[in-house]
Amino acid sequence: MSKKLNINSIQKCKNSQKLTMVTAYDALFASIFDSYIDIILVGDSLNMSFLGKNDTLSATLDQMIYHTKAVCSGAKETFIITDMPFGTYNNKDEALTNSVRVYQETETDAVKIEGGEERADIIKHLTNNSIAVIGHIGLMPQFVRSEGGYKIRGKTQEDKQQLLKDAKAIEEAGAFAIVIEGVVSDVAKEISESINIPTIGIGAGSDTDGQVLVWSDMFGFYDKLSPKFVRKYLDGKSLITKGIEDYISDVKSKNFPNNDESY
Ligand code: KIV
Repeated sequence: MSKKLNINSIQKCKNSQKLTMVTAYDALFASIFDSYIDIILVGDSLNMSFLGKNDTLSATLDQMIYHTKAVCSGAKETFIITDMPFGTYNNKDEALTNSVRVYQETETDAVKIEGGEERADIIKHLTNNSIAVIGHIGLMPQFVRSEGGYKIRGKTQEDKQQLLKDAKAIEEAGAFAIVIEGVVSDVAKEISESINIPTIGIGAGSDTDGQVLVWSDMFGFYDKLSPKFVRKYLDGKSLITKGIEDYISDVKSKNFPNNDESY
């Protein structure tokens, strides 16, 4: 059982202990993860695994606020981060207005912004106005349509240099940590070593300062995409399928409810 982290204790984990982060979208699962995990991310991945869409781009601020409220009700001991959805932080003013809304309408601890060097001024504006920000660089799911797919980053010297610049710019803008997604392991290692804030990796090898996984991937509920970096800790879909089959069979055969389950 751990004490709830804050941005200072998260930063102290750099080079001392690995940070664990998972996504959650509702109070039930958040309450199960609470006090085991260091950080819960209310990711806009909920648009895919919770709402059944093909990508994250149609997630709205109202949806993120709704799910963050639910997660905050379930997890009282865990640092919570809310993903700012696509199109809600295109410029400094819009980013601040929308982040303040997230802060005022939920109890979230921080917001996540996708983007590198080009979004550093937006992150700086938020951190200057008392919003805690975690960056997100590398493969950025909100760019899937403009990039023509999900592409692993850091494969060329030029791209590596860009990612190093992105990380530095985000650190200098005042972010307390950075998610590094879908980046060649050696490059993610080099990025982690080049900055003083923690990096949390997903598909970025083992040398980041922590790891994040999407709960519905790691527990085997979502199988529309199965990237190789996901380790399945549970075969959730099979367990639920077996449970629902058993229930149907019991109802049909009048085995449920029995006398002990009746008044
Ligand atoms: O939306 C999300 O779940 C994320 C993780 C993949 C880091 O951004």
